[in-house]
Amino acid sequence: MAVVAAKGSRTVRTWREKEERKKAQEKHWDLAGSRLGELIGVKAKEEEADPGAADDGGGYRESQQFASHMMDKAEAVSDFAMHKTFREQREYLPVFVVRQKILSVIRDNTVVIIVGETGSGKTTQLTQYLHEDGYSMTGLIGCTQPRRVAAMSVAKRVSEEMGIKLGEDVGYAIRFEDCTSDKTVIKYMTDGILLRECLGDPDLDQYSAIIMDEAHERSLNTDVLFGLLRDVVSRRTDLKLIITSATMDAEKFSTFFGGNTPCFTIPGRTFPVEIFHAKSSVEDYVEAAVKQTVTIHLGGLEGDVLIFMPGQEDIEVTCAMIKERLEELDEAPPLAVLPIYSQLPSDLQAKIFQKAPGGMRKCIVATNIAETSLTVDGILFVVDPGYCKLKVFNPRIGMDALQIFPVSQASASQRSGRAGRTGPGQCYRLYTERQMKEEMLRNTVPEIQRTNLSHVVLLLKSLGVDDLLGFHFMDAPPQDNILNSMYQLWTLGALDNTGRLTSLGRKMVEFPLDPTLSKMIIVSEEMGCSDEILTIVSMLSVPAIFFRPKGREDDADAKKEKFQVPESDHTSYLNVYLQWRMNKYSSKWCNDNFIHAKAMRKVREVRAQLKDIMDQQKITIISCGTDWDVVRKCICSSYFQNAARLKGIGEYVNLRTGIPCFLHPTSALFGMGYTPDYVVYHELIMTAKEYMQSVTAVDGTWLAELGPMFYSIKDATSRKEKKQQTLKDVATMEEEMKIAQSELVRRKHEAD
Ligand code: CDP
Ligand code: MG
Repeated sequence: MAVVAAKGSRTVRTWREKEERKKAQEKHWDLAGSRLGELIGVKAKEEEADPGAADDGGGYRESQQFASHMMDKAEAVSDFAMHKTFREQREYLPVFVVRQKILSVIRDNTVVIIVGETGSGKTTQLTQYLHEDGYSMTGLIGCTQPRRVAAMSVAKRVSEEMGIKLGEDVGYAIRFEDCTSDKTVIKYMTDGILLRECLGDPDLDQYSAIIMDEAHERSLNTDVLFGLLRDVVSRRTDLKLIITSATMDAEKFSTFFGGNTPCFTIPGRTFPVEIFHAKSSVEDYVEAAVKQTVTIHLGGLEGDVLIFMPGQEDIEVTCAMIKERLEELDEAPPLAVLPIYSQLPSDLQAKIFQKAPGGMRKCIVATNIAETSLTVDGILFVVDPGYCKLKVFNPRIGMDALQIFPVSQASASQRSGRAGRTGPGQCYRLYTERQMKEEMLRNTVPEIQRTNLSHVVLLLKSLGVDDLLGFHFMDAPPQDNILNSMYQLWTLGALDNTGRLTSLGRKMVEFPLDPTLSKMIIVSEEMGCSDEILTIVSMLSVPAIFFRPKGREDDADAKKEKFQVPESDHTSYLNVYLQWRMNKYSSKWCNDNFIHAKAMRKVREVRAQLKDIMDQQKITIISCGTDWDVVRKCICSSYFQNAARLKGIGEYVNLRTGIPCFLHPTSALFGMGYTPDYVVYHELIMTAKEYMQSVTAVDGTWLAELGPMFYSIKDATSRKEKKQQTLKDVATMEEEMKIAQSELVRRKHEAD
């Protein structure tokens, strides 16, 4: 959230990251405490790449001869892209050889599963093939991506290949950003966008074909779409549904869509990848990855390097450390160190695909976005520390948290495969072979089984799916997850006691926001501060507002302090926006105040879009002027679930779970000499400590008034009674929900 922007000093960050890494490692690996110098040992040569494992059994599989033919043809092609026209590049892709066969399978079937190595051309080519085969005459060709960055960058690439302007024939749509037009025939989008489109157009009539790309990722939205689209294709035989996957889940997808669904395997063109495992556990994976990269760089072999890191902060530290190390060395050859993660500005993202100046070696430091979503040609070395960040519901804190976990064996194999696309490569795994075999899961647990589902439950409920337990999930979420999410929606007033959508819930679903934020917008009208809440919600949707350039940290901090409102991070964001507006939305003003002008322009865009939805919903925009207590109360009305009570300086305890949570040093409430007894917060971030993110001081009585199911006022006479009443209410509600659910289960059994 916005407040993360002003990060701690480099030392603090490195320390925090170190703590975080240590915690993750201690948790999962047996620490042997040895150093990288001794640990990289040569392991037996493994042949990576076996796209044939998911044999279709339906006769579509190509002969292996093709693969070896292509291998001969390929040779070392790291600068291939630089010398070939787009057409030549397209025709060189493995998918091109089977173009006709793919199109004929699609013509003959409603649902087709296509499996192919990452980089074989599924994402960029299939949409164009369908377009060339005439599917765009009867509707849009849609292609979903689990990641926003992939949707944008692939759309850009395809528009370049087709020689047209992005947003015309080829466009993309991600939340709060629609880059399509009336002319658009190929539309890339996040899976979340298509899911929301189901609300207004349950049969997705505007599409003639939908490609659900990266199905192996098993993102929450893709999984829900599977269930919905399975019904859509049974109603609409004219719709083509293509499911693509990089790994070998093909059979599972095929069974889900009814056994006879054909699987087409694109013959791979891969080179052998030599795998090196660590001899013993690594103590600090950033340090180890940096050392390994420097060794590769100085080793004399040609080829670009790809390093996987769990998240942005590790990536930044890794990039800085590699540069530092090389500067310390005399006459080290130049190296282009390029980060890639979802929040990186798009012009910087594009750099990973470009040739580095002077043909110097590229070293890309990426999140697992580079595992299958984005393919960079020319990578011959992969450094894999074996970690990724996953969003997981944490019962201790009662909400989702991004945490670092070891990757699965399937991911490890995908990652090493990245080194063998354009020539024989090497992969350095910074974990032991034993760790891989014994401690890594075979496959990553699908998101639907590990995260809070309230947003999805709300969507499904408004799509008329009342029987959530009976919904056709590929892998059903644990029943407790569904019930927990329903309970959360009940406390927000979106569901009634029988689990049905209330009118508030129906309104909430119109906003492409977390249920808590949608509710805040809706109640703000009644409380007379919808203008202010609209701005705050828009500010929350942008990741980083403040920047802190190296060497000017103090100046940046001093400017930031001027915007801070001691009671609330939320109203501090409001303050920034209002001052920017007073300064005529000036970019210069942003720069002078160490504020990202681009981020603020994005906030303004988001605000305009949310305002449109408010207008459609007939929610009036009312300002409370300078009475910002009302704003804080409104925030409390939605965030009462995340409330904490003061315990010590900067330290709070969550009122419901009793776990300690801390003010972050970047919070407006930190070090102001003002320590409110009660606060609510937007979310917790788990690093070395549980830090509250975006905090607002609230009045204790508001909590009792707005969250009566959780809190009551400490009044000796009525307290006990109230508490008992609340417990009774909760018990009744839970009982009623249980009855409603078991009734659904009974009806389902009857129907079966
Ligand atoms: O989807 P799949 O992994 O099968 O491959 P793709 O994303 O369609 O990539 C096919 C080719 O296009 C690769 O050689 C990529 O390097 C290239 N590409 C690119 O140069 N720039 C992009 N933004 C996307 C893909
Ligand atoms: Mg792809």
